[in-house]
Amino acid sequence: MALADQLASVLIPEAQLQARIRELADRISADYADRTPLLVSVLKGAVYFMADLTRAISVPITMDFMAITSYGPGQGASGAVRLIKDLDEEISGRHVLLVEDIIDTGLTAAYLLRILGARDPASLRICTLLDKTARRIVDTLPIDYRGFEIPDVFVVGYGLDYRQLYRNLPFIGVLRTDPAAPPP
Ligand code: PRP
Repeated sequence: MALADQLASVLIPEAQLQARIRELADRISADYADRTPLLVSVLKGAVYFMADLTRAISVPITMDFMAITSYGPGQGASGAVRLIKDLDEEISGRHVLLVEDIIDTGLTAAYLLRILGARDPASLRICTLLDKTARRIVDTLPIDYRGFEIPDVFVVGYGLDYRQLYRNLPFIGVLRTDPAAPPP
């Protein structure tokens, strides 16, 4: 069965996704007009967003990647996050923009802000494609750039996975069966 046939619905079609990413990129280009920001993203979910966002930004940028693991049910829900790949570059004095595919509980972003903030960047902002506010635990997160606020449904595609699958869909879809839902 084709990947797309396993979905209940399309939440954000490809054209809408790309149009919104261009809007975010235009805002970022204007806000960082006289700087060279360092865009930092987290493997693996944010890779497509990072690739499309950076190509739509018109000012010079550099980019770097981190990898982390989350423990416990519902991934980051336990609050335990561990760094498994650090940045290659020093960020002291740099204008850092953290690029995320989704902010859900907010625990991952809060952890990343804490460790990046401790390295004395000139500025530190967050850009997330998706914002699932209904499940937020950390409600003090400053989100400077937000693509879409989405409902509390299990989304896949455009980097987001279910058991590592569906990342390569070019749009955001909703899984036919919500794996996070309690059994009937
Ligand atoms: C996702 C996403 C964020 C995090 C958000 O990563 O990329 O980093 O979850 O969730 P939170 O707000 O509840 O902390 P995931 O752990 O699924 O790994 P992946 O990027 O490899 O898919």
